[in-house]
Amino acid sequence: MDPPAGPGHLPLEPFKTKVVERIRLPSREEREAALQRAGFNLFNLTSEEVFIDLLTDSGTAAMSDRQWAAMMVGDETYAGSRNYAHFEAAVRELTGFPHIVPAHQGRAAENLLFSLLARPGTTVPNNMHFDTTRAHVLRNGARAANLAGAEAYDVVSDAPFKGNMDVARLEELLTAERGKVPLVMMTLTNNTGGGQPVSLANLTEVAGVCRAHQVPLYLDMCRWAENAYFVREREPGQSGRTIREIGRSIFDLAEGATMSAKKDGLVNIGGFVATRDPGLAERLREQLIVFEGFPTYGGLARRDLEATAVGLLEATDLDYLEHRIGQVRFLADRLAAAGVPFLRPPGGHGIYLDVRRFLPHLTSAQLPGQALAIEIYREGAVRTVEVGAVMFGDGETPDPMHPPLELVRLAIPRRVYSASHLAYVADAVIAVWQRRAAVRGVRMTYAPEHLRHFTAHFAPV
Ligand code: F0G
Repeated sequence: MDPPAGPGHLPLEPFKTKVVERIRLPSREEREAALQRAGFNLFNLTSEEVFIDLLTDSGTAAMSDRQWAAMMVGDETYAGSRNYAHFEAAVRELTGFPHIVPAHQGRAAENLLFSLLARPGTTVPNNMHFDTTRAHVLRNGARAANLAGAEAYDVVSDAPFKGNMDVARLEELLTAERGKVPLVMMTLTNNTGGGQPVSLANLTEVAGVCRAHQVPLYLDMCRWAENAYFVREREPGQSGRTIREIGRSIFDLAEGATMSAKKDGLVNIGGFVATRDPGLAERLREQLIVFEGFPTYGGLARRDLEATAVGLLEATDLDYLEHRIGQVRFLADRLAAAGVPFLRPPGGHGIYLDVRRFLPHLTSAQLPGQALAIEIYREGAVRTVEVGAVMFGDGETPDPMHPPLELVRLAIPRRVYSASHLAYVADAVIAVWQRRAAVRGVRMTYAPEHLRHFTAHFAPV
């Protein structure tokens, strides 16, 4: 028999359950009380108040038995731990980058890199900055330029590589701002734009332009294995190659990378900066000692490095990736069958509901993404996250109340939920879709200055 295929099929788990964690569906009254208590910000909910948690795919993976076994061989030495040696070897083997600087998560890696490279008066281009990446660019006085192609903003197009950068715009920017661009970043996959992949062909072109302008290319490689899966599936000539071979083709084009290992590292905490530049590596390590810790632990328990070394390689397993992407497609097929609008095609780590088509009666000022996320929680205790005016409208975006995309993300944790959980999620979203005309907007009653989506409060209007 062959593995199941075709629309609507159940994604086949290439693992079985060894440990379980109890979850419980709170009653309608409990959900309502939780929303009130949380100031209608889903970040303020406790895990007891949530049934299915699709807030993020970051640090939420189930580790494998091999990773848990790795945790048991923690060599908790301050300097020179053997776990660091294994971690360094795994990252080198995957990427070919010679200098590896561990950090406790992705934004810590971003802090190390951008505090050294970004300066007032400089610009950092990216296909699309993730919120923490952008925050680090801005914090160091630089400008963050998003150069994804027009198709990244077209929610209905099924173009295969909507994470691609517009190479002509990059060329233009590097020419106009000669000497003022310390690095170019490419985010794999493009999280803010729907978990959409970047093609090897586009990366090759971007790398060529960077080389011609003598600007280093860095990758945000959080979800590189998912990106490589799409390259293998969609790009001519790639289907016979392994994920790791495709990965090497990707990494060979770059000078270095930052990674939150909480995604395709399959760990609950961890990350790193990698580079080919020995001088920069030395400066990164100096920074690391001030902010994170000694270079052989980087703000982590050494056992975490050992688990990362195992997880990074497990994420390249094709059976694992088939299931992973299969789960996203399973949810997409259910939603599509009911007519629920979402950003197409389904991405690597989740579904992004298209709020403008879901709640067309609400204006941007009524924060429709937040309103929809609240409603999905109210319906089924399913926690999602707004990626729209609340996340991006903090005064740093040109037209804060009208971001180009208004989305609600359903991020799927790795190896955590079953197909029946996802079918339940689809039912909850479809129930809200069926009563969408009655969904009311919200307003913000409290907002901090930076990264406001984490702590803002809301009230129904
Ligand atoms: N870059 C990208 C593309 C990310 O998606 C994230 C985190 C980071 C960097 C920062 O990594 O959280 O380890 O500090 N994304 C999470 C999310 C938070 O929910 O998408 P971190």
